[in-house]
Amino acid sequence: MARVAIVTGGTRGIGKAICLALQEDGVTVVANYGGNEEKAKAFTEETGIPAYKWDVGDHQATLAGCERVEQEVGPIDIVVNNAGITRDGTLQRMSFEDWDEVIRINLGGCFNMAKACFPAMRERKWGRIVNIGSINGQAGQYGQVNYAAAKSGIHGFTKALAQEGAKYGVTVNAIAPGYIDTDMVAAVPENVLQKIVSRIPIGRLGHAHEIARGVAFLCAEDGAFVTGSTLSINGGQHMY
Ligand SMILES: NC(=O)c1ccc[n+]([C@@H]2O[C@H](COP(=O)([O-])OP(=O)(O)OC[C@H]3O[C@@H](n4cnc5c(N)ncnc54)[C@H](OP(=O)(O)O)[C@@H]3O)[C@@H](O)[C@H]2O)c1
Repeated sequence: MARVAIVTGGTRGIGKAICLALQEDGVTVVANYGGNEEKAKAFTEETGIPAYKWDVGDHQATLAGCERVEQEVGPIDIVVNNAGITRDGTLQRMSFEDWDEVIRINLGGCFNMAKACFPAMRERKWGRIVNIGSINGQAGQYGQVNYAAAKSGIHGFTKALAQEGAKYGVTVNAIAPGYIDTDMVAAVPENVLQKIVSRIPIGRLGHAHEIARGVAFLCAEDGAFVTGSTLSINGGQHMY
């Protein structure tokens, strides 16, 4: 039987590309989204992939959402924690709400999804969890203490959970994308974006399907020996 995957924030941007790549690999895919009904409807019409709405930062809603997916589609074998938001501003200007919201959704979402799905993966002795971090969690970024902290936290979360899953056949990895041409990056002012692109050795923004390729690799049956790793896909912008 085909594996079942859930991709959070799967109805647009990088998440949508991840859904399509997994679908192409023969996986039964389900997308989650936060609130953009129009994009979700268009996504399902275009791809045939069902979309389930809940806030991944909400623990109870995530437990209930995953339970619904398991009942309607089947046991969840693969979780891609892709949902994320930005609320940028320098520390001086950043509100407590903007700090809390980014940590709650970007980092808390990974915890909530793992709480919902990891125990059963462990019991079934097979699972794949891929967390979407960021180059800005590795290198930091001016005006993003909340986002950088959440994404950096994702990288630590990945390495810790990988140790808990290893002997049960559950791999946990992260991808750290560089700048990718999605709605999130479209919100960056043009002059700032030009400066960013000038620092990317490959000389352009990345495409969502280039991140999806990495996720599909980590979720494959023969990805079983890769765990606790972070795959950087950033056009050479940050190497270490
Ligand atoms: N684009 C980049 O350059 C870049 C670089 C590094 C890392 N990343 C990371 O890659 C991931 C995807 O980025 P993207 O550029 O594709 O973002 P995007 O185009 O802004 O899409 C974000 C997705 O997350 C969903 N979402 C937001 N808040 C949610 C919540 N509380 N619960 C459930 N879903 C929620 C959105 O749902 P709705 O459509 O319903 O709002 C949407 O599907 C994010 O984690 C981001 O931090 C992106």
